Amino acid sequence: MTEPLALQLQDLAYELPDSRVRIGDIRLRQKPDELTYTEPRCHGVWSLGIHSEPTNWGNGYGTSAMVAMLDVAFRLENAQRVEGHIALGNAAALRCAQKAGRRWEGVSRQRWWRNGEWLDVMTVGTVHTEYERLWGDSEPHWNFDELRQTLTSRCE
Ligand SMILES: CC(C)(COP(=O)(O)OP(=O)(O)OC[C@H]1O[C@@H](n2cnc3c(N)ncnc32)[C@H](O)[C@@H]1OP(=O)(O)O)[C@@H](O)C(=O)NCCC(=O)NCCS
Repeated sequence: MTEPLALQLQDLAYELPDSRVRIGDIRLRQKPDELTYTEPRCHGVWSLGIHSEPTNWGNGYGTSAMVAMLDVAFRLENAQRVEGHIALGNAAALRCAQKAGRRWEGVSRQRWWRNGEWLDVMTVGTVHTEYERLWGDSEPHWNFDELRQTLTSRCE
């Protein structure tokens, strides 16, 4: 196995392949708090978040971008777990996450302060074995050699 890059991919744009029109932003980052609890060879717990403008919703773009980032987390970064947080009641984001194979894990009460109030927040998660079962046999959504080169040069 090659060494993981341990990248923090912040606000990466996802685009339409042909026109390169920007659809939204997606980010993948390792959770520093969790490093303490992680076996050193395994690049443990990551968080995945996504955002796009309402005009772009409902075409499957969010799900595709999420699955592609799960690829990066599990195939390139050797993640054990990728989690995400969604405000309770955000049915579209939950549906999108579930289409990408992420599982509803529970609700944390009053976790986010938004617009003057505390919101309850759902956690969705994917663990390594689930990713393998769902997406492990599919072609990766990236050319990893190219991606590794691009990202490594960007980090230098
Ligand atoms: C989450 C988000 C990126 C999804 O993007 P998207 O491109 O619309 O995603 P998809 O088209 O792949 O999937 C959306 C699904 O939600 C469904 N949906 C939309 N509105 C819904 C609603 N009110 N109730 C239930 N399902 C809903 C869509 O029908 C679609 O499911 P389907 O394919 O079974 O019909 C987008 O909604 C968003 O940016 N939301 C604001 C930010 C956010 O909530 N981020 C998540 C927390 S990190």
